[in-house]
Amino acid sequence: MRVTILDHPLVSHKVTVLRDERTSSPQFRALVDELVTLLAYEATRSIRVEPVTVRTPVAEARGVGISRPRPLVVPVLRAGLGMLEGMTRLIPTAEVGFLGMARNEQTLDIVTYAERLPDDLTGRQVYVLDPMLATGGTLIEAIRFLRQRGADHITCVCILAAPEGIDALEEGVADLPDVDLVLAARDERLNEKAYIVPGLGDAGDRLYGVVD
Ligand code: URA
Repeated sequence: MRVTILDHPLVSHKVTVLRDERTSSPQFRALVDELVTLLAYEATRSIRVEPVTVRTPVAEARGVGISRPRPLVVPVLRAGLGMLEGMTRLIPTAEVGFLGMARNEQTLDIVTYAERLPDDLTGRQVYVLDPMLATGGTLIEAIRFLRQRGADHITCVCILAAPEGIDALEEGVADLPDVDLVLAARDERLNEKAYIVPGLGDAGDRLYGVVD
């Protein structure tokens, strides 16, 4: 698995404001959107393109277009939804699928409660959006699910990750080639409740408010 951590002062600045507990939900959503657009730039570095020719007012120009089948963007509900606009802004022709996964807070097991994806992902590049890579359980499940459907290149886009989650993910997908991880920051550790420290709290709650 290739891990890329964005090293840019604007990214660090936006992550700092995201972390701040005084940042309101509307501000938080706007910042996630901006950060994901920056992450998407890096995450799509190996997006497949094919040669195309266009006519400028002056002459013919050779360029590239995004290859078919179209890339698929998959936000992991609920918090991944806050990352969707930022990603599709950069690849507006991508298709979008949804995976609903949640962690059972007692057992920490991952439960898939919703899925809306094409049955056949053969030859697809897939971008999985999940802001917080904590234990790694959700992303391992998501990657295995997508791979079973035929996805051949999977890039996970996260905002924060715990070192424990990165290690677990590396181990959990060690047998799978072509998995990339793009992050805005790698944090210190997980706490006993599997929250990222210092982190930013519950990303879903900060985006959308607390739902019991
Ligand atoms: N999910 C979150 O939203 N925050 C964490 O710190 C860990 C998992």
